[in-house]
Amino acid sequence: MKEALLELRAKALEGLKSLRSAEELELFRVKYLGRKGLLSEYMAQLSTLPPDEKRVVGKLANEIKVELTEKISVGESLLAVVTKVSPVIDVSLPGLKPHRGRTHPLVQTIQDIKEIFGRMGFQVVSGPEVELEYYNFEALNIPPDHPSRDDFDTFYVSDDVLLRSQTSTVQIRVMQKQKPPIRIIAPGKVFRPDTVDARHSFMFHQIEGLMVGGSTAGEGVNFGHLKGVLSLFIKTYFGPNTRMRLRPSFFPFTEPSAEVEISCSLCKGKGCSVCGGSGWLEILGAGMVHPNVFKAVGYDPEQYIGFAFGMGVERIAMLKYGIDDIRLFFENDVRFLSQF
Ligand code: PHE
Repeated sequence: MKEALLELRAKALEGLKSLRSAEELELFRVKYLGRKGLLSEYMAQLSTLPPDEKRVVGKLANEIKVELTEKISVGESLLAVVTKVSPVIDVSLPGLKPHRGRTHPLVQTIQDIKEIFGRMGFQVVSGPEVELEYYNFEALNIPPDHPSRDDFDTFYVSDDVLLRSQTSTVQIRVMQKQKPPIRIIAPGKVFRPDTVDARHSFMFHQIEGLMVGGSTAGEGVNFGHLKGVLSLFIKTYFGPNTRMRLRPSFFPFTEPSAEVEISCSLCKGKGCSVCGGSGWLEILGAGMVHPNVFKAVGYDPEQYIGFAFGMGVERIAMLKYGIDDIRLFFENDVRFLSQF
């Protein structure tokens, strides 16, 4: 009887390998372990054996029962996984195409702008987002009680540490480290405690530009150069028919200062809801570096002259691509992102 049991065990293990579905597995279980199954038949005969043999054979029968029970439950869980994916695995089906990532439209915009200024000899630099108050205000000719501090509303970390509210901080850091000639652009994040809506965000990106040369003719930098550099940038980025105009403005760190406007890219200057009917869109601030800024970095304002400009990246991308809500840049909905 012992041999018969061992043979039954071998057959069962062999049979287990060919099972392909939950139904087959259940039939197998009934055949071997069911109340009227093969193993039960042997168990029923145990009582007819002499005590010594009964013990040995009984033990073996039990071991086989435990072994098969275990194998069946492993088989059940394997089948559960396979049937969840696909009841039948069709290896001839084409595979699922993985989603390919894309460059974020803001990163793309910054890259395009960097490239245009790169061709004009501007080098890309960066500065810290967590800044000392000194770099965000004082060195930029904005003393503690200056009313224009309100225009650069700021998140403070402590008394003299803040999240920079403009990339103009980088002008100071660069000039402290090197002497003219300087020709840099500095892209980066800035922070202002604005309530989020279609046009505002508490974090956005700016690109700062700074060019400084000697004050003598030949190596000097003048307002005409500022206008030429910006005009070349605008025509390259927004298209050759884009017009540009400068309007007098005020920034504590530039004198004279200008607001730079381009002809509305949507209505081509005729007037629409985007440009408020004026046909013009303000896209950046600029001006000649204020003598006090040069003094703050230890440059002699009689010896050096330069210009600076700063633009908002989101605004520029919105105008270029006709995006009407700044929040789209930060929600990271693939349906939006995959269009760029
Ligand atoms: N920092 C100014 C702003 O954030 C922009 C600017 C930069 C203006 C450089 C003039 C010169 O509004």
